Amino acid sequence: MDIVFTSEEFAEVERFKSLYPQPKAAIMPVLWMAQKKFGWLSEDVMRYVSSIMNLPYSHVLGVATFYTMYFKKPMGHRHVQVCTNVSCMLRGGEDIFNHISEKYGIGHNECAADGDISLEEVECMGACGGAPMIAINEDFYENITIEQIDAILAGLK
Ligand code: FES
Repeated sequence: MDIVFTSEEFAEVERFKSLYPQPKAAIMPVLWMAQKKFGWLSEDVMRYVSSIMNLPYSHVLGVATFYTMYFKKPMGHRHVQVCTNVSCMLRGGEDIFNHISEKYGIGHNECAADGDISLEEVECMGACGGAPMIAINEDFYENITIEQIDAILAGLK
């Protein structure tokens, strides 16, 4: 896939820039757009974002590597984030992580060989009241059980 935004996507970049006193602050939504389009933030993608945002590559790299939501390598079609921070840990978050890890043979920040699923252990995602919680792609699942996770993942194949 060519690393290039469409004219509609360029318009969206401009819209993001207009939302901030300093256009460079739009780097986060633009990186998110790039990740959604290209799948992950390769060096080529980050260099492309650097060029269209008129920012040094080092700045783009710094933002992309600071936030875990930006993938620096290919991840799965189903990306599962499991919170093991305090509230979730006390309600079985680590058991959930271990279950998924063993079932699919992948560890933290790893992707299955076929690219179908990836797993990430994450810090608090602000849904402590619904602990234990996980996220699959951009959807949150709260008060989740291992049995429910297995059913959800099976339904998302
Ligand atoms: S501790 Fe898991 S969402 Fe806050």
